[in-house]
Amino acid sequence: MTPPDATDLGVLDQPAARRLLNLWNGQQAAYVAHRDHRFEAMLDVLRLHSPHDLTILDLACGPGAITDRVLAGFPHASAVAVDYDPILLRVARGALAGYGSRAEVHDVDLVADGWEEALAGRTVDAVLSSTALHWLSPEQLLRVYRAAARLLPAGGVLLNADHLRYDESTPSLREIARRHDAWVQQEAFAAGALSYSDWYAQAARHPELAGLAVERERRFADRPPQALAPLDFHLAALRAAGFAEVGTVWQYLDDHVVFARR
Ligand SMILES: C[S@@+](CC[C@H](N)C(=O)[O-])C[C@H]1O[C@@H](n2cnc3c(N)ncnc32)[C@H](O)[C@@H]1O
Repeated sequence: MTPPDATDLGVLDQPAARRLLNLWNGQQAAYVAHRDHRFEAMLDVLRLHSPHDLTILDLACGPGAITDRVLAGFPHASAVAVDYDPILLRVARGALAGYGSRAEVHDVDLVADGWEEALAGRTVDAVLSSTALHWLSPEQLLRVYRAAARLLPAGGVLLNADHLRYDESTPSLREIARRHDAWVQQEAFAAGALSYSDWYAQAARHPELAGLAVERERRFADRPPQALAPLDFHLAALRAAGFAEVGTVWQYLDDHVVFARR
């Protein structure tokens, strides 16, 4: 039996959800050195390329970091934010509540066939994602890129920000990137940032979220970390998925914002 949409089972009040979103942003910045810069690059592409009243699809939205930035920066924009973690879905729903009907949050497993049916045929102008699609195997990633291409009209863009690890052909760059990650984390934690697991411990202090831990565990029990696909794989997969123009709009060591236009 399909479990009910976890986000329908309770509500987290908006101030608590906003606080958890802020804490999330702090902990993610410990793992992604220039996270704000990559978001700025994504938003600049939207400013320069997309309609001002655009609709975005935020893939694997977590607690809503991308959607929050887009809706705050584009007063006429709307967003459909999707994720599969019941705790993050509930935080996203609370954190984005202030945007009213401009923000929709859906319980979606990107690995499941036909996940895009959650969008009920609506058109999106841009598909955005950050620090998330590395959870997918290469085959699953290609399927998600194909689905994104089907959702976008001609001219629509996909922007995916993630660490796209260097492979064995560039061992020095790989080592520099690895040491840079370790260094950034060390500095951030010393300055008081939460770790990923600390954040979930904070979330569990809220009874509305603590009760979702078992369902979260169940959903992700069979999702081992994937071998990370390099930049070349993403670009080739996007071309194969039907995007006409692919490239990068931002890079710092192995951290990239990949761009694709229909
Ligand atoms: C590190 S978080 C990034 C969240 C957000 N995009 C950000 O940058 O703050 C990775 C996200 O991927 C989501 N995720 C992983 N596998 C997924 C799947 N199969 N379907 C939907 N979301 C998934 C997780 O639940 C989590 O929210």
